[in-house]
Amino acid sequence: MIYIAPSVLAADFSHLADQLAQAEAGGADWIHLDVMDGQFVPNITIGPFIINAVRQSTKLPLDTHLMIVNPDKHLETFRGAGADYITVHQEACTHLHRTITQIKHLGAKAGVSINPATPCSTLKEIISEVDLILIMSVNPGFGGQTFIEGTLRKLREAKSMIEESGRDIRLEVDGGIDMVTGPRVVRAGADVLVAGTSIFRKPDIKKAVAELRSIIESGAMKK
Ligand code: DX5
Ligand code: ZN
Repeated sequence: MIYIAPSVLAADFSHLADQLAQAEAGGADWIHLDVMDGQFVPNITIGPFIINAVRQSTKLPLDTHLMIVNPDKHLETFRGAGADYITVHQEACTHLHRTITQIKHLGAKAGVSINPATPCSTLKEIISEVDLILIMSVNPGFGGQTFIEGTLRKLREAKSMIEESGRDIRLEVDGGIDMVTGPRVVRAGADVLVAGTSIFRKPDIKKAVAELRSIIESGAMKK
């Protein structure tokens, strides 16, 4: 199964509940929430308060992408706000094993993400513990950036690491995913597609999700 996770970063926050409902009606599987602290990444976005508001607006799993330094300090707060998946950056965690253990202890699914310049080999010692690997296909910080081509090779590598582990681990990709890159990342092994601009910046959000699913399912069949 391929999961589509619309990223609310590109949504109109003055009509958030309505925009979430449209994405859900189009067949969205998860809602992706980008938390940025102005330190790990240059931008500042949302925190637990908005995540809690999103939690009141949808029953879909909340996929929380923490682009923050020292995430350990805030894990309990994000879990309390309603996060189902909590993903931290490998580059932001000095004691990654402890952080992942803490996320699972809180009852959430634990994810680890790597930036475009970070190799998949950095995940080798933690793959036995995680529920999700997030390969960034842009440098994190902003929506609307161009997909980095080297991501396809990294996805194939991460996919074979997951297969080798024998564990049930989602392989997520985030950044520049649209009708063109979507089928390509699925063929490279991704099973969770984050998409912001290509969904929430379209005039018809519901249709955008449905069309992305349709092209992925037909495109993924082609080898
Ligand atoms: C970027 C964020 C992404 C972003 C993707 O740092 O992690 O989730 O919202 O946006 P698009 O789909 O516009 O590239
Ligand atoms: Zn993200």
